[in-house]
Amino acid sequence: MNENILTLHDHEQAAQAALSDAAWAYFSGGAADEVSLRRNLSAWQAWGLCPRVLRDLRGGHTRCRLLGAEWAFPLLVAPMAYQRWAHHHGEAGMAMATAAQGCGLVLSQQSSTPLQAVAASFLQDHEHGPLWFQMYWQPDRGFTQALLSDVEDAGYHAIVLTVDAPVHGVRDRERRHGMPLPDGVRAVHWPAQSTEPGQGLCAGLADAAPRWEDVQWLIAQTCLPVLLKGITHPQDARQALDIGAAGVIVSNHGGRVLDTVPATAELLPLIVDAVRGVREDAVVLVDGGIRRGTDLFKALALGANAALIGRPALYGLAHSGARGVAHVLRLLRDEFEITLALSGCATVQDIGMDHLCHLVAHPHLHRTA
Ligand SMILES: Cc1cc2nc3c(=O)[nH]c(=O)nc-3n(C[C@H](O)[C@H](O)[C@H](O)COP(=O)(O)O)c2cc1C
Repeated sequence: MNENILTLHDHEQAAQAALSDAAWAYFSGGAADEVSLRRNLSAWQAWGLCPRVLRDLRGGHTRCRLLGAEWAFPLLVAPMAYQRWAHHHGEAGMAMATAAQGCGLVLSQQSSTPLQAVAASFLQDHEHGPLWFQMYWQPDRGFTQALLSDVEDAGYHAIVLTVDAPVHGVRDRERRHGMPLPDGVRAVHWPAQSTEPGQGLCAGLADAAPRWEDVQWLIAQTCLPVLLKGITHPQDARQALDIGAAGVIVSNHGGRVLDTVPATAELLPLIVDAVRGVREDAVVLVDGGIRRGTDLFKALALGANAALIGRPALYGLAHSGARGVAHVLRLLRDEFEITLALSGCATVQDIGMDHLCHLVAHPHLHRTA
């Protein structure tokens, strides 16, 4: 790997050089004018850091608790489809590198590698973080039950149900290039007769779109905790917990579905307030635009238990396979640990709202407490 790659932005440029135009459009693109995509990035920068000095940093660590277990680092790789299109190492390479860096992994139902092979790559490393499986609602309940049982048997720790994409977003860059998946690359856990979210606008998906009672049914089918991904409204967050979800992931799908949804850094405090009032054990995660250790620190300061990164991990994979992913995660870990120390925090639990100030006013945001 090129020794001049020192930041996640460098990884992005290397990935663009390595990928075809069509693959680049698919992996990097967002919906419509890409307002949410850009805002996801800038909104983290709109929060300023207020470091504390002369604190006792001895015995510092980055451990965090999620869903009743302790993990080395509060970061997971977000679910992303068709990783073997980015690099032949695909999801297995992503899993190996992520486990080696002590981070968590959420495998997409649109994985191009069988979930059992990914679990084997990930869980064999003793340093691994949490391993979760992401699903889209399928109208065939028998299919869902069989998939859940495979996921449980393979050793996954939780289910993530993505609820923000009942139909495909209007992704202009992708529509211009099409999606010429290479031979042999397909979503291996997608029902054969069903329409993939990547295949054309609305194409039958709206009829099959899930409702709250469907989610409740799914939660009852598995012994694993279920998190809902794609929550941006405080009332939806509360309803998710009311029906038994273990937590929510504040996400606008990386700006890929509905354009002009606010940035997740703007929405997160509202969701945290809503959820904390309902159930103290509920987990809140966030993704979208996290590119620096300082962004991750801010996510935790705003109340997230952990965060996810999407594209940067794919970019590392695209140009250097598993080694590229490991480098991306290592950079983020190092940057985060430096931020922690420079902010006067020995542990993740020491991070609080008092470490943040608004650099740019967002008048619609009013965080209490
Ligand atoms: C190429 C690509 C494919 C994705 N596929 C999925 C998917 O299959 N399921 C899902 O829930 N989210 C999917 N997402 C959204 C990510 O899980 C995540 O929410 C988003 O990428 C986070 O934003 P970031 O890329 O700015 O970090 C995808 C994102 C990208 C970039």
